[in-house]
Amino acid sequence: PRKIIIDTDPGQDDAAAIMLALGSPELEILGITTVAGNVPLSRTSTNARIILEFCSRPDVRVFAGADRPIARPLVTAEHVHGKTGLDGPDLHEPKMQLETQHAVDFIVETLKREPAGTVTLCTLGPLTNIALALEKAPEIAGRVRELVMMGGGFFEGGNITPAAEFNVYVDPEAAAAVFRSGIPIIMMPLDVTHKVLTLKSRVEKLRAIGNRPALALVQMLEFFERFDIEKYGSDGGPLHDPTVIAYLLKPELFGGRDCNVEVETVSPLTVGMTVVDWWQVTDRKHNARVMKDVDADGFFALLTERVGRL
Ligand code: BDR
Ligand code: CA
Repeated sequence: PRKIIIDTDPGQDDAAAIMLALGSPELEILGITTVAGNVPLSRTSTNARIILEFCSRPDVRVFAGADRPIARPLVTAEHVHGKTGLDGPDLHEPKMQLETQHAVDFIVETLKREPAGTVTLCTLGPLTNIALALEKAPEIAGRVRELVMMGGGFFEGGNITPAAEFNVYVDPEAAAAVFRSGIPIIMMPLDVTHKVLTLKSRVEKLRAIGNRPALALVQMLEFFERFDIEKYGSDGGPLHDPTVIAYLLKPELFGGRDCNVEVETVSPLTVGMTVVDWWQVTDRKHNARVMKDVDADGFFALLTERVGRL
């Protein structure tokens, strides 16, 4: 199986991504690393373990990472995810322990230990841990197979400011460092994730699975989607983070192209904006494969089938 590290700030949609990975034998999760984002670090670290316990997988190790962005105060998103970050189902305190090693050290050590080009980084939150790992051990950049990230937006604009998507906005310096690193990057922006909506018919298929992870996930999604339904009158919430895992399983569900991507870190108006040279109007070097299109029904069929295996 393909070896992955999931770096995450759960988050209901992060939970969906973790479940999709756990239900997929093609993937081997070497560890889950947590970061401050949707909610503070102590909560994201708790939530990652709650999700693993919902799925009866306490054997997957969880490493806590950065509790704040590199150069800014933390911005969180309780307005979307609720006070716990996983609002929806009844939550319990996790029994499994957090690892004592820091997430950044785990990432560095794992990339140095495993053969070069075999470990994929899946990032579902702000890129702080990855940027800190690159700062600590720049040589790891050449050892990463691929970094698949949920973050950014271009034609679609932003979701936390008119210009910026949340994960990049929270730690733009970290995102900028990752785009500069030379790691092969696959970017899943809002342009993709706003096309995979939790429509009623799709959620009912998940509910029909009837296992514990599926029911917990449905309760999470019903909480999470209310934000978009109430605020924008949309037919469901965007299921951002599982697109990262789905790409590893079925890349043919997605369409995009190689581009240059730069991150704005200075302008107060547009900080955190991902400037994607989609039309190749500059000769700046390609540094990411940027996705724009997705087969949404194919994506939900995959998610439903895999959660059904848990
Ligand atoms: C991203 O921000 C978070 O709220 C979600 O979990 C997702 O990773 C979407 O902008
Ligand atoms: Ca997330």
